[in-house]
Amino acid sequence: MGRKAKVLSEKIVDDEYIDKRLVGYYSTPDFISEYIKDRLIEIKGDGKELLDPCCGREEMVLPFLREDIKSDGIDLIRYKNEYSCNFLNTDFIKFYYDKINEGSNFNGLKYDYYILNPPYNCHEVEYIRKNKDILRHVFNDVGTSNMYSMFISAVIDLAKDGAVIGIITQDSFLSSKTYKKLRKKILEKCSIHEITMCPTDLFLKQGADVRTSILILQKGLDYQRNIKINNRCLSTKDFKNKLLDSDKQLYSLNEVILDSKKDNNEFIIECPSDIKELFNLPRVEDKFKCISGISTGNDKKYLSIEKIEPFVVPFYKNPGKDKFFTNKEIYLDRNFLDIEKIKPNFIVRNKEYLYKSGIICSSMGVQFTACVLPINSTFGVNSCIICDEEDKYWLLAYLNSNLVTYIVRGILIRSNMITSGYVSRIPVLNFSKEIKDELSSLGKVAYLYSKENKDINLFLEGINRIINKEAKLSSKSILYINEFKKELIRLT
Ligand SMILES: C[S@@+](CC[C@H](N)C(=O)[O-])C[C@H]1O[C@@H](n2cnc3c(N)ncnc32)[C@H](O)[C@@H]1O
Repeated sequence: MGRKAKVLSEKIVDDEYIDKRLVGYYSTPDFISEYIKDRLIEIKGDGKELLDPCCGREEMVLPFLREDIKSDGIDLIRYKNEYSCNFLNTDFIKFYYDKINEGSNFNGLKYDYYILNPPYNCHEVEYIRKNKDILRHVFNDVGTSNMYSMFISAVIDLAKDGAVIGIITQDSFLSSKTYKKLRKKILEKCSIHEITMCPTDLFLKQGADVRTSILILQKGLDYQRNIKINNRCLSTKDFKNKLLDSDKQLYSLNEVILDSKKDNNEFIIECPSDIKELFNLPRVEDKFKCISGISTGNDKKYLSIEKIEPFVVPFYKNPGKDKFFTNKEIYLDRNFLDIEKIKPNFIVRNKEYLYKSGIICSSMGVQFTACVLPINSTFGVNSCIICDEEDKYWLLAYLNSNLVTYIVRGILIRSNMITSGYVSRIPVLNFSKEIKDELSSLGKVAYLYSKENKDINLFLEGINRIINKEAKLSSKSILYINEFKKELIRLT
């Protein structure tokens, strides 16, 4: 626990005093707490006791108390004098550790329901850093990257068979490789009842621009039925209506998991079946080298926006929103290979591919785009596909299509940076020579137009038409990916 958090835990904290970033405090809106209560009771009607391991001001607990469900709440911080639940002022991670070490035949706690909106930000980073060794030991199965994943893992371990777990949390766990082990644990230990993605504006009023989802699990594998799935909608207003809608979108477990050997059991939300099928095709990595390049450890020192000695080697970082052509060329110190030898933070990856031409992809931000990487250039940690001249333009056209935007941002990685590990798993359609030629010509003119800052939408339309046809997408799927592309930021 950080010094400030320690001080906080010793007193009752009022609203003005609380540093949200410090404790990761974002209140669950009432309608979400009500919804989770209704769903948990719908799944298990006879439950009598509940635990919220990070109950805060009891936002999630109160609806259960109104149903006369005996409720225990834990929190590192005491936020008020009087609690309606049975409150325990302690560190839940410590509580968990003590419980699982109580005896060898631990069969789970008494609770029928668990509810949690676990902490997930800066303070936790400090918490994790300070307690790294012990946490690594306790969470050796799922890792220690985030408090929320440790909380979910701990609750799964503590739950008895049949207990129902209602969670609202940051949803990087859906697709990020970091949470592969958490997904594995969920799939091995729990039945999944629901994954509902929340709109991006849900916590905005509280100052958090965070992507969250509701996840409803039940301990044990015998309870798996079809899963209620809701993709992200555009606003909280639409979301409220969606939750009221009794028409459930039900999917089999198989439809919700990307489970081929190359993938990482990503939880995929409303992925049309004709697009999921494409994951049986070869991937970018089966056809091309997909790599990341140089991290300088100190960009200010080793990179320059002006071409001035010794900064003369063209260097590309993130092409951002640019498509086909990017002018975001900066310059790297010509002595970079010598610098690497003396500076441990300066890393030149994949030296054998230095100065080759290829395609450079965006890494930061929600957009996914691809641009030409000119020959004799270098590039940063964003992903780069090394390819010959003859493959460059059809591949460029494909990577800038709506289908690939959806594959990357709707399936492979809905959060975080798009590193080469994700780009290398993009399925590549089996284009004939004629189609490659057609795409190449469109890719080439789009590149030239883009270089002159002219509108390329017409070419993109042509590219999308060819690719949707080649992928044999239904008109419903085409509409779906087009909508996704149109509202990329709010729907990702
Ligand atoms: C996102 S808030 C949720 C608060 C409330 N339950 C809600 O749903 O609105 C996360 C809560 O976790 C608590 N917390 C952070 N670290 C904790 C820990 N190690 N053990 C128990 N509670 C913790 C914070 O004090 C905060 O109340």
